[in-house]
Amino acid sequence: MPFDFRQLSPVATQENLQASIYKHLTQARQRTLQLFDGVDAQIFRLQANPDFSPVGWHLGHIGFTEGLWLLEQGAGYAPLFPNYRRLFAADGLAKTERQHLPSFAEICDYLSQIRAAVWDYLEVAPLSTQAGLWYWLVQHESQHCETITWVLQLHHLHGQQPATFTLPLTNRDWPVPPSTTTPSAPPFLPPTPTMPNNMIYIEGGAFLCGYEGLEALDNEKSAHWLQVNSFWIDRYPVTQGDYRHFIEAGGYRQPQYWSAAGWQWLQNHPVNHPFHWNTADGDGHPVCGVSWYEADAYARFVGKRLPTEAEWEKAACWHPDYSGTQDSLDFPRYYPWGKDQLTSAHCNHGGGHQGTTPVDYYPRGQSAYGCYDLLGNVWEWTDTWFHAYPGFQPYPYKGYSMTYFDQLHRVLKGGSWATQSPVLRCAFRNWYEPRIRIHFAGFRCAYG
Ligand code: AVJ
Ligand code: FE
Repeated sequence: MPFDFRQLSPVATQENLQASIYKHLTQARQRTLQLFDGVDAQIFRLQANPDFSPVGWHLGHIGFTEGLWLLEQGAGYAPLFPNYRRLFAADGLAKTERQHLPSFAEICDYLSQIRAAVWDYLEVAPLSTQAGLWYWLVQHESQHCETITWVLQLHHLHGQQPATFTLPLTNRDWPVPPSTTTPSAPPFLPPTPTMPNNMIYIEGGAFLCGYEGLEALDNEKSAHWLQVNSFWIDRYPVTQGDYRHFIEAGGYRQPQYWSAAGWQWLQNHPVNHPFHWNTADGDGHPVCGVSWYEADAYARFVGKRLPTEAEWEKAACWHPDYSGTQDSLDFPRYYPWGKDQLTSAHCNHGGGHQGTTPVDYYPRGQSAYGCYDLLGNVWEWTDTWFHAYPGFQPYPYKGYSMTYFDQLHRVLKGGSWATQSPVLRCAFRNWYEPRIRIHFAGFRCAYG
């Protein structure tokens, strides 16, 4: 049986857990340090975008978080580097004050001293009750790696200049379509059960939402049955070729496609194509780098809507023939394709391609319903505000998820080409404010 976090749960002996945690923490650190290959001292400490910290800060914060939760809270040790607390704690300095950083070598030394103490503690830690904390740290490091990836991309896109906050609105040359005065009619014909049009019909009924395995994060619990009405969902994420119709029809200039909040946002942030719009990649690649507002506007343009989180998750983890009980071992699926270990043949993840791949590139990644690309390639915006599931308990601190149950953050599902394996699963929940568009986010549409 291939290994994943979950498969250890039924046989979670101290030895198994130690070996698994050792492996995952080691792999996470290798991947983190690889991201810094060729990063110069300027880029290391400069803030590329007001919403995100310098990459060097993320590196220090990864070490600080590990020391705080495993060594201080877990083992009860005194802080190893008390003078770093203010700098690297998430609630320490404002993002704009995080540029006065130790060097890369100094932060690496900090990380290895923390890690050495962590290995000592792993020998004696009470993993039968504490494994979830260790797996949380693996996933914490993985998530910061994804942020480091797009922040580095911002720096490189702007010619390694010292960053300013007057970033160009576009990162590639893309001709602005000619102005149209007459709005074009939505080209989309509502699908019927006999006219799938690359949409998949998902029959109404209950499915088991969320996840409670050893590595489940606080916001995935409790797993609970949810009734979902019948709906249609796109087989693929929306592609650049699809989205070009919206651009060329003047979608960015026509308020009828936009929510009130979206139109307001657009007036203050006049963009005319996705942030990671890449004409060289071709039409078959997914749209990448849209705000929730743009995703929502495109969906309206084609006469569709964004899926709810529950619809997305059901399309990913459920089976058209399945109507069993909670005792089934097979559903919900951990991955859209089932429980086979995630490999580079299933989806575009972990930076393997350094960018997106065509949306039909991974037939092995299909869900039971036949949806492609649910994991990897691009995160997918949903229509759902990030919210607590029944029985939610904050873990390991309120600021991880609970602070964001504020009706200001929309849920994204599925992971991008830069997302690492520890956070790729159907139940994983990400969230951002609807205006954020420099991360690797696209979407697919629903109907009905
Ligand atoms: C869930 C990706 C939005 O990066 O802000 C990292 C994850 N939380 N450290 C973020 C997180 C605390 C979070 N996201
Ligand atoms: Fe963090």
